[in-house]
Amino acid sequence: MSRKILVTSALPYANGSIHLGHLVEYIQSDIWVRFQKMLGNICYYVCADDTHGTPVMLRAEKEGITPEKLIDRVWHEHKADFDGFHVEFDNYGSTHSVETKHFSETIYKNLRNAGLIEKRSIEQFYDPIKQMFLPDRFIKGECPKCGAKDQYGDNCEVCGAAYAPTEVKNPYSAVSGAKPELRDSDHYFFKLSDLRCQEFLRDWTTKGTLQPEAANKMQEWLGSGDENKLSDWDISRDAPYFGFEIPDAPGKYFYVWLDAPVGYMGSFKQLCEKDGINFDDYWKPGSDAELYHFIGKDILYFHALFWPAMLENAGFRTPTRLFAHGFLTVNGEKMSKSRGTFITADSYIKQGLNPEYLRYYFAAKLNGTMEDLDLNFEDFVAKVNSDLIGKYVNIASRTAGFITKQFDGELMEMPESVHPIFGQSVIALSNEETDRADINPQSVNKLDASYEDHLINNSRELLHEFQLASHDLKIIYENRDFAKASRLIMRLADVANKYVSEEKPWELSKLGIQAEKLHFACSLSINLVRILTIYLKPVLPKLAVQVESFLNVPPLQWSDALQTLPGGHTINPYQHLMIRVDQKQIDTMIEANKETLAPTADSHSQVRHAESQQHAIAPIAETISIDDFSKVDLRVAKIVNAEHVEGADKLLKLTLDIGEEKSRTVFAGIKSAYDPEKLKGRMTVMVANLAPRKMKFGLSEGMVLAASGDAPGLFILSPDDGAQPGMRVK
Ligand code: 2FM
Ligand code: ZN
Repeated sequence: MSRKILVTSALPYANGSIHLGHLVEYIQSDIWVRFQKMLGNICYYVCADDTHGTPVMLRAEKEGITPEKLIDRVWHEHKADFDGFHVEFDNYGSTHSVETKHFSETIYKNLRNAGLIEKRSIEQFYDPIKQMFLPDRFIKGECPKCGAKDQYGDNCEVCGAAYAPTEVKNPYSAVSGAKPELRDSDHYFFKLSDLRCQEFLRDWTTKGTLQPEAANKMQEWLGSGDENKLSDWDISRDAPYFGFEIPDAPGKYFYVWLDAPVGYMGSFKQLCEKDGINFDDYWKPGSDAELYHFIGKDILYFHALFWPAMLENAGFRTPTRLFAHGFLTVNGEKMSKSRGTFITADSYIKQGLNPEYLRYYFAAKLNGTMEDLDLNFEDFVAKVNSDLIGKYVNIASRTAGFITKQFDGELMEMPESVHPIFGQSVIALSNEETDRADINPQSVNKLDASYEDHLINNSRELLHEFQLASHDLKIIYENRDFAKASRLIMRLADVANKYVSEEKPWELSKLGIQAEKLHFACSLSINLVRILTIYLKPVLPKLAVQVESFLNVPPLQWSDALQTLPGGHTINPYQHLMIRVDQKQIDTMIEANKETLAPTADSHSQVRHAESQQHAIAPIAETISIDDFSKVDLRVAKIVNAEHVEGADKLLKLTLDIGEEKSRTVFAGIKSAYDPEKLKGRMTVMVANLAPRKMKFGLSEGMVLAASGDAPGLFILSPDDGAQPGMRVK
């Protein structure tokens, strides 16, 4: 029976860019979700932008646009960042949605009907010029402890002290510079201190819903016995505010914790509407679905106390478990804008760094606890190059060519390897059994040198060992110990490489008479690559797709590890799967982030950011030989005709003369840059031996060369005067 699972990641604020610190969580959740899907479980992964609040309102005002326009732009930026790192949500929504509004109001009304909402008057700083109440972050002044100037209203960046905004000396408004006044205002509170909430939370936080270190923290926050350490939670803010107005309180708006986590429900509701899923199956009390929230440890208080108490008392189910992670440090220190280690997702991608390097590196560091993790760039380069390229990719690159060249791509049948009872027990393991099951000590501990030698001499057992690991890795992934998973997978990759080194296919191929031995060794290696790909697929989904295409197999599922490819199966010619990461790319990225990020992400710094990105060139591709280059047949071409293509936004249809009897038709994506009339008669350069491509609009018989970068613009090439159609460019 497949499990029904709903997974969420914390909603990023819509007033800033996604950075590598955020990505720890999204990559962690995405790996776990992909793993669940590979097992055949029903698993939905939703998230959304957290759009409401004063910072969004003020930033929009500064940019001279509406908050709606701002959050729409940021939504697209965030979505592109997630896509760039292969974080695949089933729905990525926004808290500014009718669905979230509906659930915020429902929760509020139900809590109010349960007597858990209270109105109280509080004193708060007010900006008399801007005519608004000021959030703590928008009050600045001198630190009451050390006297440092220009510190925020809630903590001092110089001495680290935390305090109330009313304690700040000589306070001023960060919005207008005015001296703020204390004024009274009615606020709405959720009564977390109510006995019902306390009793419920004492139980909920101790029944396996939290990691042990989080559960301990909660007991501290909850207090013991008769102690009541919980305070009521202010859920309202005064107008002007960008958010949802509280139904029975004009001029009052729901504050973040009454709409941000509710965004989980809102986003899931959108998915339900799209895919015909029953919302109540996942959110009503008694639901048999599992609900997991991946969060940073900084928002544990809200997710472990406020959120479950709210859900419980508003008639919804509570989370099955919270998975909190630690913070990211870079090169052993807090991420810093001045050191260039406050790296945006966008700048990483723009440097041409493969997102799967980072996915793998984070996976190798994430162990399912709340410990902080460090991104050490020297280690990053070494680990990616040694594990992914030196170990995993290497097995295929050392053996696949022989299969293609000497055996027409056909694999040899593998020996029967898995004991049938073992095969059954893996498939039959239920969730509870998985939790209790012990990791097979053999695959974790027994891979010492002598055992490895034994395996290498025993291909049947070697294969068996690889397959056996699927049982252990299933438990390890389930427990989110991706660090342990990557260690085990790399040990297997080491064994596979050792096997290849012992078999020496390059020597067997020379001898000629050993064809069968060569065929077997390479076929077994390819089968091992396939199994390793299954195990790495949650972490490296894109690479797995490339391998699937090379292996000529449908998308790999977890249970496929227990089978081998049938004898006679044909693989496709091997193409390089991944290039090495170069320290220079990292240095350029850090430099780019140093220049680009001003202390506040205002519109000016955004412009500077965009400008400096234009000056950074994408890294030079992998070195190729002159033979590789000469495979590309470049010809001078005369554009004899150029025309628009009906229904195509980007294409122009070009008719090219390259000195052949018949002209060539090429569909080129240059419509944005060229008026077809102006192209007629021009000379350019085309790739003449590119395989023809069937497009919606006709057959494209080559490609014209054009230059482009991050900056707008597209420039087709022209040869110097005198060049004739058909001349070779070399
Ligand atoms: O802390 C944050 O990043 C907020 N945007 C809230 C995220 S969690 C949630 F509840 F949405
Ligand atoms: Zn201070």
